[in-house]
Amino acid sequence: MKVPDRRPSAADNGQVTPTPDTTTTTARRAVVVDDEQALARLVAGYLERDGFEVSVTHDGSQAVGVLREVDPDVVVSRVPAAGLGAEFDDLAESFNAMAARLQEAERLRARLLADVAHEVRTPVATIAGYLEAVEDGLQPMDEPTMAVLRDQSARLTRLARDLAAVTRAEAGDLVLTLEPLAPDELLAATTGTWRERATAAGVDVRVQVDPELGHVRVDRQRMGQVLDNLVANALRHTPAGGTITLRATGGYQRVALHVSDTGAGIAPEHLPHLFERFYRADTARDRTHGGSGIGLAICKALTEAHGGTITATSDGPGAGASFTVTLPVPPG
Ligand SMILES: Nc1ncnc2c1ncn2[C@@H]1O[C@H](COP(=O)(O)OP(=O)(O)O)[C@@H](O)[C@H]1O
Ligand SMILES: [Mg+2]
Repeated sequence: MKVPDRRPSAADNGQVTPTPDTTTTTARRAVVVDDEQALARLVAGYLERDGFEVSVTHDGSQAVGVLREVDPDVVVSRVPAAGLGAEFDDLAESFNAMAARLQEAERLRARLLADVAHEVRTPVATIAGYLEAVEDGLQPMDEPTMAVLRDQSARLTRLARDLAAVTRAEAGDLVLTLEPLAPDELLAATTGTWRERATAAGVDVRVQVDPELGHVRVDRQRMGQVLDNLVANALRHTPAGGTITLRATGGYQRVALHVSDTGAGIAPEHLPHLFERFYRADTARDRTHGGSGIGLAICKALTEAHGGTITATSDGPGAGASFTVTLPVPPG
């Protein structure tokens, strides 16, 4: 079907019947479109006016499909209030909200792809370079070479695992096995995992738990993963002689779990971005330490899946860092 050669007019109203308020109480502002072509024409009209070429399929129900296939720039377009009544204004508003979501999703998708490509490139290039050097007889296939190859393939494996984890968590299709747990039990499990490694690194691990905290309802494994990530980061950024402190404190129907360190600290400009996928505050150093920059994104997605929040604070470089996971405490 061709693009309509006129702006939508009130005449289109003839095919679009506003639902009378009395019909239903749950969707009082819904519009019933008994001619889907009319809706498609209406939307196409707006887009065409903004300079987009729009084709509308004969099956009006595919109007959304049409929108999905057009140039991504199309989602930059917004529909103005049509002045055709409240129902049309609501329709325009929903359309604009949908366009905004598509635009954001498109932006994230493009950035994720670029980030993944960037992350894959370095280890693959290193592996390929070493193999070529070995083949050409420029490099012996000795233990140091093997170590590099193992390292780089481990980095790719970690990237694949982290990407899968963050995608699952962010898509919201995690199945959480919630059980009531005392906060000190959670912290004890984490310190049990890390104490030995911390001691070997010359870092002291302390635990402080406020008395009389309520039980939190968490998936033991997933919340353990959050705390593990935080302690791994703390340990990585804390030199020998430093301290990592795990604390549990109470608030109104909330329990906060804190992982604080006396290490490198974080400059204020990095704080707002730490939970973004692939974000590293100190690119060169964090990369050589093997981080993929996804750990905190996983922490955030897992915490939010529990109905909680996660925040980071630091007084700046050299002043240590503190991460706080806040979890709801069910009443009773
Ligand atoms: N305890 C910490 N002290 C200082 N910087 C930290 C700390 N935890 C995280 N960061 C910074 O946040 C970035 C993102 O952390 P994360 O998502 O876990 O990625 P990764 O650990 O793979 O680098 C890190 O690269 C680091 O720059
Ligand atoms: Mg990390």
